[in-house]
Amino acid sequence: MKSQGPQEGDIVMPREAEIVVGNGGLRKVHVHAAEAEGEIYLLGAHVTSWKPAGRQDAIWLSEKSWWEDGKPIRGGVPICFPWFGPKKDAPDAPAHGFVRLKEWQLEAVEPQDGAVTVTLSTKSDATTKNWWAADFELRYRVTFGSKLVMSLEVMNTGNSSFGAEEALHTYFAVGDVRQIHIAGLEDAHYIDKTDDRKEKKQEGKVSITAETDRVYLKTSQAVEIVDPVLRRRIRVRKENSRETVVWNPWIAKSKAMPDFGDDEWTGMVCVETCNVVTNSIEVAAQQKHRMTAVIETESL
Ligand code: BG6
Repeated sequence: MKSQGPQEGDIVMPREAEIVVGNGGLRKVHVHAAEAEGEIYLLGAHVTSWKPAGRQDAIWLSEKSWWEDGKPIRGGVPICFPWFGPKKDAPDAPAHGFVRLKEWQLEAVEPQDGAVTVTLSTKSDATTKNWWAADFELRYRVTFGSKLVMSLEVMNTGNSSFGAEEALHTYFAVGDVRQIHIAGLEDAHYIDKTDDRKEKKQEGKVSITAETDRVYLKTSQAVEIVDPVLRRRIRVRKENSRETVVWNPWIAKSKAMPDFGDDEWTGMVCVETCNVVTNSIEVAAQQKHRMTAVIETESL
């Protein structure tokens, strides 16, 4: 019996994209459109590159990443769902949920005006139900163009409502994290995960001067990473995301992570579009929720 949705063999690939074997033998869609080049792995529906035409990659990827089915890719844009960080009632459950560890189904690759949109999906099955009982389906549309648009749709395919956390855990490439600042979060309150989860208030722009692991609350507004070394501004706009995580592991934590180079922390910062700690989503039976991040870069 044919399962629902298009099968990979049915997908008509435009001339601006192909399915290729990437690191670790894992498959990815490589896009080379007029407005941008980009890559997305089927494992985790994980974007690993976005280069707007004539510009450098905005996305950071670790040289020490695992490239293995069932292990998360380090860098790029992991999708965290249905929980963020450790699962509260099950510390042995995979950090940031299970969808970044699964191969997603490729549904469509569509060209449009110099850009390409790749759509992937995944849904609940016996394995996901070992961790989380809900019936769900996720559909993720990523447009690689002069903007990178990532839109995650969460569908409740069951008969009762569920609550979930979600994050587009975007790793951005920066020249030197010690010299950037992040604008747009001034005066926001945040939970400081490096200081016993105390709630604090952001004074001025964000500078990274130590390990940083913060959940900025009630922040739907655009955020900008201003990078004087790469002479670039990265703007992150969001829809239906009310929190923003900022993360840099700094020195000791980088050394402690086997899939992260000891010195790589200087070249990255995560600015994550999410609904987590205080604003997890509630999706009623047979309803949907869609969260979107729109990324643009500009020369300084
Ligand atoms: C961040 C979290 O979003 O992701 C951090 O706030 C966490 O606490 C980091 O360390 C990386 O997580 P992981 O599971 O990919 O190593």
